[in-house]
Amino acid sequence: MKTAKLTLAGQEFDLPVLEGTEGEIGIDITALRSEAGAITLDPGYGNTGSCTSTITFIDGEKGILRYRGYPIEEIAQSATFEEVCYLLLYGDLPATDELQEFNDRLTRHSMIHEAMKDFFQDFPATAHPMMVLSTMVASMSAYYQRALNEADLDLNMIRLLAKAKTIAAFSYKKSVGQPFVYPRNDLSYTQDFLHMMFAVPAEPYAVPPVLNRALNLLLILHADHEQNCSTSSVRMVGSSQASLFAAVSAGICALWGPLHGGANQRVIEMLEMIRDDGMDFRKYVNKAKDKDDPFKLMGFGHRVYKNFDPRARILKTAADEVLDQLGIEDPLLEIAKNLETVALDDEFFVERKLYPNVDFYSGILYRAMNVPTEMFTVMFALGRLPGWMSQFKEMRSDPRGRISRPRQIYMGEALRPYVPLEQRGTSKAKVEVEKPELTTA
Ligand code: ACO
Repeated sequence: MKTAKLTLAGQEFDLPVLEGTEGEIGIDITALRSEAGAITLDPGYGNTGSCTSTITFIDGEKGILRYRGYPIEEIAQSATFEEVCYLLLYGDLPATDELQEFNDRLTRHSMIHEAMKDFFQDFPATAHPMMVLSTMVASMSAYYQRALNEADLDLNMIRLLAKAKTIAAFSYKKSVGQPFVYPRNDLSYTQDFLHMMFAVPAEPYAVPPVLNRALNLLLILHADHEQNCSTSSVRMVGSSQASLFAAVSAGICALWGPLHGGANQRVIEMLEMIRDDGMDFRKYVNKAKDKDDPFKLMGFGHRVYKNFDPRARILKTAADEVLDQLGIEDPLLEIAKNLETVALDDEFFVERKLYPNVDFYSGILYRAMNVPTEMFTVMFALGRLPGWMSQFKEMRSDPRGRISRPRQIYMGEALRPYVPLEQRGTSKAKVEVEKPELTTA
């Protein structure tokens, strides 16, 4: 076994070195603290592996993304979202009968408990759908409690995947004041979701194939992305043996933030702002470069991709095709392309290796599909569900698995004695209390 040498305070330590399938090198520091009395410090975990995994491979320098070994370009071109869910959850592409059975299970579990419908009535109409989704997913723990062994976990994963689209569509219906449309077992996953979103009881609705294909692509491209912020949250919460529903609910909350999945909503808001402000792309590129200005180019930059994000490339082409097929001319697509051209030519972005990420073009597609801006991150969450669940499953079955519990380097006050309240004075004129000499036993 290869080792790395660490010299600390004149002493040498041998640390085992792991090599991944694609030659990535990791220094195993599992025994570092017990042997050397030291920990590593890596805010934001940019250099820290939290696990070994067999699910997704990314090479950020080369713009490579693979699910279980399959290149994202091939999967996006040919697979259905259901096949990708199966692949991520069970490790291999399904055979025909396996896919049939999987689809049957997914459709059979798509209704939510009738009592859960009442929850929607009590949220304010202005509630953000990510809040609704995370709350409803957490509340599934109350209705579907069994997850004691692997068979139960599998059943709950199917339930969650099947019901999440119903919850997402119901939250949209509630926000526009329309009656809920129930799931239909004769439709595919994506068709069923679009039907629940856009059908009304007053007239028949046939899902346009172009929307179905676009949604299938979007969900596939978001299906997994190894140890990102939301997935790490799912793993961390799950490591305490909390339920699948609790862990995924935490993942949804983590995804909501604008630096993560929430960026897709912010991208469209940014593009609208540029449109309403006279389409001056350069002004906004300059604002993003200005260190005194908190403005960032949303949908730009990535912790891992330092050349291009393959998902963004696929979505840029798809945006052109889908808008063309729908006969839509969206000025925001033109603004996005111009912004990309200006930014990619600018030294600031080139030096920092900042490229459009998956969120940069996805919103343009969602807009064309009539999905409201506030729902964009919910769409991301729907796509990411199979990834979160397969990572949860992998984490739970890892024999090396332990509760996630990072360390810290404490930089606060040294030991000091408690000062009674009457000696502390007011906040305006705090009494300086002399620190007595500390004595150690
Ligand atoms: N606009 C302007 N400057 C940027 C941007 C941006 N979008 N992104 C990074 N930078 C700059 C930073 O200011 C920093 O500059 P400095 O070195 O002079 O201080 C440098 O590029 C490195 O950026 P970091 O923030 O350190 O990179 P990190 O890996 O921590 O963050 C992140 C990655 C959060 C994605 C960041 O690029 C960002 O905030 N982008 C905008 C939000 C976004 O699109 N998020 C979606 C990411 S994809 C996803 O989660 C699905």
